[in-house]
Amino acid sequence: MSFIECRNLAYQYQGAKRFAIDHIDLDIEQGEFIAVIGHNGSGKSTLAKLLNGLFLPTQGSVCVDSIPTADEDRRLDLLQKVGMIFQNPDNQIVASIVEEDVAFGPENLGVPPEEIRKRVDEALQTVGMYDYRLKAPHNLSGGQKQRVAIAGIIAMQPQCIVMDESTAMLDPIGRREVMQSVKMLNRTLGITIIYITHFMNEAVKADRVILLDHGIVAADGTPKEVFADYQRIIDFGLDVPQSYELMHRLGCDETVLTEDECVTKLEELLKENGNT
Ligand SMILES: Nc1ncnc2c1ncn2[C@@H]1O[C@H](COP(=O)(O)OP(=O)(O)O)[C@@H](O)[C@H]1O
Ligand SMILES: [Mg+2]
Repeated sequence: MSFIECRNLAYQYQGAKRFAIDHIDLDIEQGEFIAVIGHNGSGKSTLAKLLNGLFLPTQGSVCVDSIPTADEDRRLDLLQKVGMIFQNPDNQIVASIVEEDVAFGPENLGVPPEEIRKRVDEALQTVGMYDYRLKAPHNLSGGQKQRVAIAGIIAMQPQCIVMDESTAMLDPIGRREVMQSVKMLNRTLGITIIYITHFMNEAVKADRVILLDHGIVAADGTPKEVFADYQRIIDFGLDVPQSYELMHRLGCDETVLTEDECVTKLEELLKENGNT
């Protein structure tokens, strides 16, 4: 059994004509780093809320670690297993001191105080915010606030974190800080990451990319597989990663997704040209 299993999963908002999530099957394994992409209204946020039980399926089911999200008795288990980070860092801060904010989640789970102290310190160290533990969150940058929010989730010791465009309101530095923090959580603690983004440069850094379109899974594979067809990505109303765009314009028909690959490919092209 997969860590997360969506079976014939459908969600319809009250009064809506169409399904926002339209009968999808999806398996996510523990420890995966997945990017979810798709144009506005494709169903990304709806899917995110179905994964942690914030929304319950209209049809079909979602199971997380064998727990059906519709199982009312296991709500707390589920909330503890799947943490969620939203877009606006200001809406996620609840306390006036950083370390109190991070302690809020585990306090609600009924974790004993000495254990909370330990978890809060570790979580703040993990995201590189320990030195700010006694500061007021509202003085922090957007990226720092999101890292505090992530620390609050880690302190609940989840197996999975869902990030819904959590870098959309950040500057490039903040985006990089947050991406590095979650990548580290995935690599060192094995936390499953479901990273919803409209930044394609971020999506290509995931191990697996799921492309949503009108509530269905239109593509699912490695970044290379999903981005293989340049025109198809454009047709889905998405940007292509800058490196890919550049190489495409230079007439290279390979799928060049990262800056490193782009540099290597450019060097090759320059060498070829130099020899002719
Ligand atoms: N509260 C709501 N009531 C009715 N329809 C909604 C609501 N929220 C989203 N939708 C619709 O559901 C579809 C999916 O939306 P959403 O999951 O927010 O997409 P995304 O996050 O990919 O932009 C869209 O057609 C959107 O208009
Ligand atoms: Mg959304």
